[in-house]
Amino acid sequence: MLGIIGGSGLTQLANLDVSHREVVRTPYGEPSGPLIFGRLAGRDVVFLARHGYGHTIPPHLVNYRANIHALEASGVTQVISVASVGGIRDDLGPGTLVAPHQIIDYTWGREMTFQSGGDGPVIHVDFTEPYDASVRRLMLDVAQRSGEEVFDGAVYATTQGPRLETAAEIDRMQRDGADIVGMTGMPEAGLARELELPYAALCVVSNWAAGRGDSAHGIKFDSLEAVLHLAMTRVRRIIEGVCAE
Ligand code: HPA
Repeated sequence: MLGIIGGSGLTQLANLDVSHREVVRTPYGEPSGPLIFGRLAGRDVVFLARHGYGHTIPPHLVNYRANIHALEASGVTQVISVASVGGIRDDLGPGTLVAPHQIIDYTWGREMTFQSGGDGPVIHVDFTEPYDASVRRLMLDVAQRSGEEVFDGAVYATTQGPRLETAAEIDRMQRDGADIVGMTGMPEAGLARELELPYAALCVVSNWAAGRGDSAHGIKFDSLEAVLHLAMTRVRRIIEGVCAE
């Protein structure tokens, strides 16, 4: 079963034929909302809105552990995580779709592991390649076949939020090697890896990052919604294509 985590701009999947909703409890608390089960293009799918269905949960307060645990416990075998990001690199402007291949984690103070001490042995999961190669490949192949351009590979800087970054912070992230910046990439990806849940991200660039492009002197929020809306139509098409495989 395919799990889809929807971010800003994707709180529902229009063509999902919903069978039921389930309020799930986990040892880590409740996920961001009920899991929505259904069928999409012939495949069983579970959808979860990361920020809640009313978009009320800010990035630093998302219960990432409950979200990932609930999906895994529901029988999900692959996760596509959709997220909006800011573009840092000059060829990754608003409206671009990106499948990142690497992560730099600048977040702090989040519950970022299922290992909370106790009697079990300490486990260090391998995270050299943070995204699952086969889920990435599938997304990219489907996108290419359906004529949707998705940028293959980018370093995703995850910041704490909820405030946006300063221009100097973005400069520093670029020196570190970051190409895009968002607030939810971690600990989500790391938690999926701890549960050995194949996970990949499909990111929508909603704006130029601070100090870049038309965000040179500030980020304009009014154009952001429209960019996201258009791009999410393309994201839905790719997800449906993945389901139809
Ligand atoms: N910075 C951090 N997170 C984001 C941005 C940004 O510019 N745009 C969308 N999510």
